[in-house]
Amino acid sequence: KSHHNVGGLPDDLKFELVEPLRELFKDIDIMSSIAQSYGTPSYVYKKDRIEHNVNRLKNTLSTYFHKSHICYAVKANSNPHLLKIMKSVHPELGGDCSSPGEIYAAELADIHPKDCIYTGNYESKRDIATALKKGVYLNLDDETSLDRLLKFGMPSRISFRLNPGFGKGSFSQITTAGENAKFGIPAEKIINAYQKAQDAGIKKFGLQCMAGSGNLDEDYWVELLTAIFYHTKAIEAKLWIDFEFISIGGGLGIPYKDEDTPLDYDRLFSKLSDLMYHNYPDKASAPALWVEPGKSFIGDAGFILTKVTGLKNSYKNFVGIDAGMETLMRPALYGAYHRLYKVGTHGENDGSYDFTGPICENTDRIAIAREFPKIKEDDLIAIVDAGAYGYAMSHNFNTRPRAAEVLLDGNAHRLIRKRETIENIFSGCNV
Ligand code: LLP
Repeated sequence: KSHHNVGGLPDDLKFELVEPLRELFKDIDIMSSIAQSYGTPSYVYKKDRIEHNVNRLKNTLSTYFHKSHICYAVKANSNPHLLKIMKSVHPELGGDCSSPGEIYAAELADIHPKDCIYTGNYESKRDIATALKKGVYLNLDDETSLDRLLKFGMPSRISFRLNPGFGKGSFSQITTAGENAKFGIPAEKIINAYQKAQDAGIKKFGLQCMAGSGNLDEDYWVELLTAIFYHTKAIEAKLWIDFEFISIGGGLGIPYKDEDTPLDYDRLFSKLSDLMYHNYPDKASAPALWVEPGKSFIGDAGFILTKVTGLKNSYKNFVGIDAGMETLMRPALYGAYHRLYKVGTHGENDGSYDFTGPICENTDRIAIAREFPKIKEDDLIAIVDAGAYGYAMSHNFNTRPRAAEVLLDGNAHRLIRKRETIENIFSGCNV
């Protein structure tokens, strides 16, 4: 059955839907070979999809912007093998890091610290010192962060994270600006923050604003960039600062559901470009546009291959699978929706099931009341769009080792992170 939004979409946007991966799930030989080689659950990443995602943004930005820069949001997935694939497509790629560990991951992939942005929040002195020492430039979450930073040295360039008073995300929990957000500097304090940095002797500036994740609404992006320019213009007028760059953060949404329409990058970035060069008509001196994509680079390139462990008819019908909330937190944490496909012939739906893992928490659900074809123990299931914030947010609750990560390159697959062992979990205990 085709997705109901496919009809009206141009061909290049149809490709942004899950269709290409869906064909793969029909291939029982490859899927079984992965399951046999590395066990289940495993995170599987499709190399050509990562390359496609990086190329898509890179080409769009170079079409519509005089100057631009991409910092991959390492938090979405920090496997250095995947970062290397991204960098091979776009050698200038930087990293958006939010911890010393994410700087380390970028370094493992030969992403140069000078191309990276560090956006912490409530940054400790130790984290600030590490970022400064590594030569990563800092995007500060508050003016008090500047006080801490100046204790360690004088950065040549900084930016502040603006909280423009509104934000938007696909869930309230991933809306990262507005009155309830812990992030960024409120609009009425932003000029003071730059004033303080200027008084301290800093001469080069950017401005960053990451207001939420998972946005498929084109109008929102226009609204956000309009608000950003309102503030950069006010800061420039008061302080005679020339912004070198403006980062809109990450937040480019991907279609998780059949009825979601993918963002039309051409239409979106041509609108953002119009806004930019309306505000900064001299292209040569206009700020560069920075983007920090996480989800849109790796989200739809990865899926979780999981096996049915058991079926239970209780007050509801349950399908037990070997990947629970320890492997994919998003449904339990946000009520996020992930498509599931039965490997092989998906078939007609046969009933409604809750999909749950082995975790001793009643929030352990991968899907709730999901229509699904007839299924039996040991069948394989693919949990789609798990490339971003899948492994990265996995954990050891119930002392479950983290799953393996596998790279699929054409029909060839290889292990890019070993499954954790129980011994690994206790390796620091020294008993
Ligand atoms: N830049 C900054 C400063 C960020 O905080 C984030 C994400 C990104 C970039 C990348 O945003 P993306 O392109 O992935 O939307 N765990 C949630 C998403 C939280 C995003 C937090 N910050 C999820 O699974 O949906």
